[in-house]
Amino acid sequence: MKKFVYITTPIYYVNDIPHIGHAYTTILADVLIRYNRLFGHNCFFLTGTDEHGQKVEQAAKKRGKDPKAHCDEMSQNFKNVWNELNISYDRFIRTTDPEHQRVVKSCLQVLYDQGEIYAKDYEGWYAQGEEVFYTEKELIDGKTPMGHEVVKIVERNYFFKMSSYQNKLIAHIEKNPHYIEPQSRKNEILGFLKKPLQDLCISRPKSRLTWGIELPFDSDYVTYVWFDALLNYAAAVGLGDGQRKNEFDQWWIQTSGPIHLVGKDIITTHAVYWSTMLMALGLNLPKMIYAHGWWLTSSNEKMSKSKGEVVRPLDLKDTVGVEPLRYFLMRDMVMGQDAPFSKELLEARINAELSNNLGNLLNRTCNLIDKYFSSKAPESFQYSEQEKAIVDQVLSLYEKVKNNINELSVQKALVEIKEALTTFNQYVDQQAPWKLAKVDLKQAGHVLKFVLDGLSHIAFLLCPVMPKKMKDLLERISIHDVACMAYPATSYETVKAGALIQKGEVLFPKLMDT
Ligand code: MSP
Repeated sequence: MKKFVYITTPIYYVNDIPHIGHAYTTILADVLIRYNRLFGHNCFFLTGTDEHGQKVEQAAKKRGKDPKAHCDEMSQNFKNVWNELNISYDRFIRTTDPEHQRVVKSCLQVLYDQGEIYAKDYEGWYAQGEEVFYTEKELIDGKTPMGHEVVKIVERNYFFKMSSYQNKLIAHIEKNPHYIEPQSRKNEILGFLKKPLQDLCISRPKSRLTWGIELPFDSDYVTYVWFDALLNYAAAVGLGDGQRKNEFDQWWIQTSGPIHLVGKDIITTHAVYWSTMLMALGLNLPKMIYAHGWWLTSSNEKMSKSKGEVVRPLDLKDTVGVEPLRYFLMRDMVMGQDAPFSKELLEARINAELSNNLGNLLNRTCNLIDKYFSSKAPESFQYSEQEKAIVDQVLSLYEKVKNNINELSVQKALVEIKEALTTFNQYVDQQAPWKLAKVDLKQAGHVLKFVLDGLSHIAFLLCPVMPKKMKDLLERISIHDVACMAYPATSYETVKAGALIQKGEVLFPKLMDT
């Protein structure tokens, strides 16, 4: 039976245009989904925008815009950037979509009717930027743990009985060791759950905030933005819509739940708020919540608009190129850790691994085939012991990549692929087909064909990371339909002898220090 895979990104606040940090999560989701499609699974990829709440209301005000008009514009910006970055999402959800709002209201009503939501007077410390209430104890030197200012607020609000799910949540995390990844984040959440869990304030009085979804049982309030936003993951696949029941079953149940990719700053909202909300609604929990680290600026701080030093992915479109950027982002962040972002690191990685290791190998091979074989793929003969070992390395690459992708480690998969490329470069240097061609043309042809076939496997496995460039590479070596590369591969030879081999332009121009 076909496997079903559902992957989500966080939905992005429309108070900013996407920077490298946002692009990273979205590209990661795209790369994982493209690999899963390549493995033959049924996939659904969701992204979108988080459009309610104070931050967005204020951002709209600052621009002198009506909030909805502001959201329409900013949400379109995200879509445009994702299109430029070749993001192949299946659905882009907006929390202002009427369908999403209906789901939020119906979940609120169900929970209210079940007695899971109640009203009480509340006194707490409120951090405006984070839209989070803190208790006195949670503050550090009078500020939030993230270092933001707080103000004291007393007001009547509605609360979700999150505290009653504390033990059930701990049990779920312990029983499902991969529910929260990486393990360091799981331990952080279990640590957090050692202290008594508070109920969650899920309303905001309209006197303070109007830009939100009105509570179905009290028109003086709107819904807390996180309670609204988290429900997007279920709304997008048809929660509560009788006509979409099959769709919901397919993506929510047959997948054993979605895989949520999030940054480490929003792990608690997902692992605690969202998990307990789902428990209260009687729905199964996600398959996994995976928290990645941050891209850091030159001063070792999280890249963010409020800190100033941000790089927008499209700023690099003309200089670096979209697909080399995708490669760099996937290659340079180790699972769960932070990673520095700089032009120097970007250039060094792309020059070494794409321009030299991959691009040069292709270039050298195609040039020699052009020169000595009139641009026709030569024939290969019996493989030597050394070549047989390389064939084994290449044919086992698929399984290795698959295992790494199943563990969500694109970085490790790329290291495996890079190592295979290094093997080919060493092989070519050793065989020196440019010299061989002058003394033994047949053997030179064998070596070049051996490399061509190897390159086809490598390009195939790099397609999810650089779809356009790898399609270009494969077309140059006469593989016009990757479907012909049936995997797991049984045959090493993929390029037909006699097929047209085109030199083309340099695939990955070297980046120069500017
Ligand atoms: N709207 C919420 C998410 C709601 S999900 C139901 C939100 N939005 S955000 O736009 O502020 O951030 C979205 C994601 O971008 C988060 O996962 C965050 O970690 C990620 N990043 C923002 N800056 C980042 C870096 N500098 N590095 C890596 N990712 C970071 O939170």
